[in-house]
Amino acid sequence: MRDIRLAVIPGDGIGNEVVPAGLQVLDVVARVNGGFRFLTEQFPWSCAWYLQHGRMMPADGLDQLRAFDAIYLGAVGFPGVPDHISLWELLLPIRRGFQQYVCLRPIRLLPGVKSPLAGRGPADIDFYVVRENNEGEYSNMGGRIYAGTPHDTVVQNAVFTRMGTERIIRYAFELARSKGKHRISSATKSNGINHSMPFWDEIFGQVAREYPDLQADQFHVDALAARFVTHPQQFGVVVGSNLFGDILTDLGAAIAGSIGIGASANLNPERLYPSCFESIHGSAPDIAGQGIANPLGQIWSGALMLEHLGYADEARWVETAMVATLAAGVATRDLGGTANTAEVTARVCQEVERAAAAARAGH
Ligand code: NAD
Ligand code: IPM
Ligand code: MN
Repeated sequence: MRDIRLAVIPGDGIGNEVVPAGLQVLDVVARVNGGFRFLTEQFPWSCAWYLQHGRMMPADGLDQLRAFDAIYLGAVGFPGVPDHISLWELLLPIRRGFQQYVCLRPIRLLPGVKSPLAGRGPADIDFYVVRENNEGEYSNMGGRIYAGTPHDTVVQNAVFTRMGTERIIRYAFELARSKGKHRISSATKSNGINHSMPFWDEIFGQVAREYPDLQADQFHVDALAARFVTHPQQFGVVVGSNLFGDILTDLGAAIAGSIGIGASANLNPERLYPSCFESIHGSAPDIAGQGIANPLGQIWSGALMLEHLGYADEARWVETAMVATLAAGVATRDLGGTANTAEVTARVCQEVERAAAAARAGH
């Protein structure tokens, strides 16, 4: 029996509703597999914890997390603590401290979900966004001078290193090959941003030459956003900077039916540190506490975690179970259904058992 040590940080708002749902599914997967189990440790770090302790996590928080095999995180941020404090004291230190420089976000219209794009089906929306996760526009470099005077001035620097840019672009090309995607599209803005983005384009071009089997192209991010809506079928892998990838993936999740369904993996590909799995969405203060949040984004993120931990077949069980749940019409309100979080989760758990049995019977 393999023990997988899992650090669990539900965080804020609906994180406390969707993380238990995701864990329920993961436990079913482990039980059905029989060869591994999750040993979880819960960390209450959140905005509520901040209000008691004056910080989002203890000073040695990253050290406490370091020995785990993976981190399963809900969402961070809630009214009462400024977002730039809550995020920069918890989520962003995890991503950066553990060199999780890849943010991998599948954008897939699952059968049974209606896209807000008219006439689009599952074959039309099925790609990956690879988002740079450690630098770029989220640099923490800059400052403010003359606050409170008419000369009040802020500078926020964007940081693009050759190492950081090249490794994320290379990851995207490798992903395309491993997932059988033939086209890789770069999000740029080298018309308006005249240092970092031409640099990004230059490196994208250099790496692309090493992959002559793949079709590489680039779009200014504004036009790319429009193409997500008008031509989603043309994308295989999209690679972008930290901010571009952030914005494009809320859009991607929306065209795939709901922001509540989008999954995300913060990966340290070298496995020197734990990777962190969370949904794309945030803490959703507007619906928190009502038990109606869509758990599928968090459950799907659990599938990405299973895959990272070496359980690709088990990840497929979860995806199959999500599709079966949706096909049965069991969906939360954001997807046009009437089910609550618990009902969707219970159905996914049942369907995991069924999917595993079918896989074993060779169907
Ligand atoms: P949000 O994703 O929390 O919510 C946007 C909209 O989507 C809301 O109307 C919400 O109700 C809906 N929604 C989100 N998830 C849903 C789900 N699972 N089921 C049904 N509906 C869902 O974005 P926001 O309002 O901009 O952010 C709220 C807080 O979360 C902020 O503090 C923000 O900084 C934080 N945030 C955290 C993360 C993270 O930790 N990964 C990600 C995004 C935002
Ligand atoms: C996400 C979130 C975060 C990001 C915020 C909360 C800092 O929007 O994971 O997409 O921008 O990375
Ligand atoms: Mn985001």
